[in-house]
Amino acid sequence: MSPRLIVVSNRIPTEAEPSGGLVVALHDCLTTQGGVWIGTSGTPVKDPAPELREIAQGAYTRMVFDISEAEHEGYYLGYANSVLWPLFHRRADLVQVQPDYADRYMAVNTRLADMLAEFAKPDDLLWIHDYHFLPLAALLRDRGVTARIGFFLHIPFPVVSDILALPQANDLKDWVAAYDVFGVQTQGDVARVMAHYRDDPDAIFDTQGRMVTLDNGVAPRHFPIGIDAHDFAALAKARADIVPLAMSPGQKLVLGVDRLDYSKGLVHRFEGFATFLDARSDDSPKATLLQIAPPSREDVDAYKDIRTELEQAAGMINGAHAELDWTPIRYIRRSIDRDTLASVYRRADVAMVTPLADGMNLVAKEFVAAQDPEDPGVLILSHFAGAAEQLTDAVMVNPYDAAEVGEAVATALTMPLDERKARHAKLRDNVMTEDIAWWTDSYLAALRGTD
Ligand code: UDP
Ligand code: G6P
Repeated sequence: MSPRLIVVSNRIPTEAEPSGGLVVALHDCLTTQGGVWIGTSGTPVKDPAPELREIAQGAYTRMVFDISEAEHEGYYLGYANSVLWPLFHRRADLVQVQPDYADRYMAVNTRLADMLAEFAKPDDLLWIHDYHFLPLAALLRDRGVTARIGFFLHIPFPVVSDILALPQANDLKDWVAAYDVFGVQTQGDVARVMAHYRDDPDAIFDTQGRMVTLDNGVAPRHFPIGIDAHDFAALAKARADIVPLAMSPGQKLVLGVDRLDYSKGLVHRFEGFATFLDARSDDSPKATLLQIAPPSREDVDAYKDIRTELEQAAGMINGAHAELDWTPIRYIRRSIDRDTLASVYRRADVAMVTPLADGMNLVAKEFVAAQDPEDPGVLILSHFAGAAEQLTDAVMVNPYDAAEVGEAVATALTMPLDERKARHAKLRDNVMTEDIAWWTDSYLAALRGTD
């Protein structure tokens, strides 16, 4: 019998059959092998109880714990999303250092560690997800937990010079080193973790300067996350023409799908698209950039301005370029469900995935999976998306260079069928092979110590 798997993530799916890459993968994996998924309950309460509450039982159990209003502010809006998120996405300038934030973050992690220490058995496997719970293994070890504990960081690991903006820079070293497996998305992330330990007497480096182990005998490893590519391709194919899209004949569709987050480079993207519009002649095809951007973390200050900034940029660009029968930028500020999204991806001629920093970016992979291999669209991909390490046959861009982005749009829209097919075949091969089941299996093999 396999050991019981305990998955911990800040968000936990509430529907019976959840949708969306990671959630689906963990749901499938837990359904197959049983176990428990633990997360926060979502709505802050006045007086959080110090216990886990079961919300659903089936092939596996889902349990939640409450956080208070002050903890929601300090742990989630504060330390997680106003300190760690900007810092890890190379925006140290946006970091809000406030002692309260760190205190609340530690309070939530400590309460969770107390509950987990009570709940976990020595032969369980604990798999902790993302920046909300970095200190958990260290706290669990303090409480005598001996089970194997793995961590997976979904977002980029920060550069060493930025980490200095974190008052808990030294704690971060201990938090990381307490895990049996410290998983990150890319080789670049592995290098950045190692750089953080460069002067650490407990870290061991080989003759080439590569870190071999942390003080507990493990080294960081990369596990690039994938999507449920076969299912998504089938969904997109089945729904190819289902959703009506207001487009005139001959008009081209350029697509962007991102949470409204400063790390996604949306204003830069619009500016890049504007340079493409500036350069086009009257007989060039009319291309519309359809940007789907659901709001995210709206109570965090740094997220308040980007909406206005983006709407102003779209207004300016449309004012300068729109015609009676054509709006160059269309912008939808709400979330689109997965089925509809699959249909829209399928019909896009080009996807612009141009983050300034991103752990992986699943949208890039979903677009590739959704395309028709006989007449595929073109992926424009930022060097700064984690996906860039795998999806090397995309049209790669520097998202800060508007002229380069504009040229990439022109190149993508006029790319001959042969080249589109050749590039897409390689991208698709990667997305189909290194899919979400591959990711879960590789990670769990490492966590079990059987790889
Ligand atoms: N997504 C969605 N509806 C939307 C926008 C996004 O379902 O309106 C999904 C998208 O399909 C993808 C995920 O949200 O699966 C975004 O993941 P990604 O890695 O691209 O970025 P993140 O939001 O995790 O930073
Ligand atoms: C990224 C993070 C996840 C997070 C998601 C949505 O994908 O890696 O941990 O759940 O964004 O953000 P939210 O703050 O709404 O949970």
